Amino acid sequence: MENIDIQIVEYDSPLQKKSVELRTKVLREPLGLVYTPEQLAAEKDEVHIIALSGDKVVGVLLLKIADKDLLKMRQVAVDTDCQQSGIGTLLVFFSEQYAKNNGFHIIELHARDAAKDFYLKQNYKVEGDMFAEVGIPHYKMKKKLE
Ligand SMILES: CC(C)(COP(=O)(O)OP(=O)(O)OC[C@H]1O[C@@H](n2cnc3c(N)ncnc32)[C@H](O)[C@@H]1OP(=O)(O)O)[C@@H](O)C(=O)NCCC(=O)NCCS
Repeated sequence: MENIDIQIVEYDSPLQKKSVELRTKVLREPLGLVYTPEQLAAEKDEVHIIALSGDKVVGVLLLKIADKDLLKMRQVAVDTDCQQSGIGTLLVFFSEQYAKNNGFHIIELHARDAAKDFYLKQNYKVEGDMFAEVGIPHYKMKKKLE
């Protein structure tokens, strides 16, 4: 894997738009879904974090401020041919540093059942029972940052 650069991008910037294309490919098309303009517009105030390999967006993660102490991690996706090479871990690590640097102490997320073990490896803990979201099983997971 080439050098991976993790960075925050502006909403509506060219790289942020590319990250929406990646999310569509990895998170929506396999479910037969698309993002509506309203869903995308609602992300205006979220933190858009991407992984770049050269000029290609190979990973993405969004952070939403939920409370003064709490960030919600959303829309975590790594391009299919780049998975299992550490990019997801880099995105989560960057997010946790961002959270700590900005005074947040808890990160919560809704993990797809198929990705639960990835988050367990990043020391997120399952809270409560399985539930359905976008038609597939999910778990609420949480990490208290040291
Ligand atoms: C889940 C995902 C974000 C992980 O990113 P990644 O770059 O592939 O993960 P990494 O290479 O950093 O993996 C870190 C560790 O987690 C493991 N892992 C990664 N994805 C996993 C999965 N889906 N299930 C179980 N373990 C997984 C890796 O094997 C690795 O283990 P190791 O430390 O023992 O070697 C990515 O695979 C992905 O986009 N999947 C499809 C979309 C998705 O499910 N997104 C999450 C929605 S909640």
